[in-house]
Amino acid sequence: MLRALFREIVLIDANPALAQAEAADLSDANALARPARIWAGTYEDAAQASIAVITAGAATHGDESRLAVAARSAAIVESCVAQVMQAGFDGVLLVAANPVDLMAHRALRASGLPSARVIGTGTLLDSSRLRQTLATALHVAPAAIDALVLGEHGDSEVAAFSIARVAGLPLPAFADPAPDPTVIACQVRTAAYEIIAGKGYTSFGVATAIVRICEAIARDERVALPVSTLLTGQLGVADVYLSLPCILGAGGVERVLVPELSDAEAAAFRASAEAVKAAGAALL
Ligand SMILES: NC(=O)c1ccc[n+]([C@@H]2O[C@H](COP(=O)([O-])OP(=O)(O)OC[C@H]3O[C@@H](n4cnc5c(N)ncnc54)[C@H](O)[C@@H]3O)[C@@H](O)[C@H]2O)c1
Repeated sequence: MLRALFREIVLIDANPALAQAEAADLSDANALARPARIWAGTYEDAAQASIAVITAGAATHGDESRLAVAARSAAIVESCVAQVMQAGFDGVLLVAANPVDLMAHRALRASGLPSARVIGTGTLLDSSRLRQTLATALHVAPAAIDALVLGEHGDSEVAAFSIARVAGLPLPAFADPAPDPTVIACQVRTAAYEIIAGKGYTSFGVATAIVRICEAIARDERVALPVSTLLTGQLGVADVYLSLPCILGAGGVERVLVPELSDAEAAAFRASAEAVKAAGAALL
């Protein structure tokens, strides 16, 4: 609504009163924003949608990891995907429920859609956190920083410092001494835990990441964003959803790109794949 991206937004929740209240609250901003029809509806209302965003999932509490809620989330995601597909949905499924890599894979299997059209929000949020954290340390705008977190959206994620750039400069060339990668990566990895400790959940960062992905698809932008997609051999990893930079357009993921990582980062990426595969073994 704030970015005039869609004319219609339907909210569906197992708790219809909650969906109605959220729709009413959002609609209250309509006159001051970019009007859209926003209502609480049914899966049938979403049948013709261009994008369905699955945010229903088991939330994590305290220091619970995202992987720890996988089984509970899987049942919810399965139910949502089955119902939207039953209604005749044939657009792009964007999964935000955690653990997002496994939930996107589960949504792929439950939907029967081509993998290009089943996307997890992945590490777009973590990459945004990395850029913000580096920006604070380097006293520049986050937009001046090009940096990626790859792999799992979770504890095994890989902050790819070797390819991080400020206006084309590697970090050690921009700042001497460069910020400590171990400290920065830890801040990025634990950011969600700290926000959840303070307010109980995260919302604005992930919502903005979801909107950015929707924008890329709705406007057929062909922008490159790190999102979770089905890997088919990239960096030696196959048959698992993980984040790598993807060209996103009207058809969803149009190309998966493989950055030139350091050997240690590539090994960490493969270890991340193993962690996600192990957690998914009983689920998929
Ligand atoms: N990918 C990310 O970066 C990211 C960021 C934040 C949250 N999340 C994930 O998003 C999910 C939701 O988080 P939250 O904080 O909004 O949790 P929440 O508990 O506040 O909301 C979950 C909602 O899902 C609804 N729901 C449950 N089962 C349903 C079903 N079968 N059909 C329809 N609706 C159903 C509930 O009624 C509830 O309103 C969690 O899995 C969380 O980990 C992901």
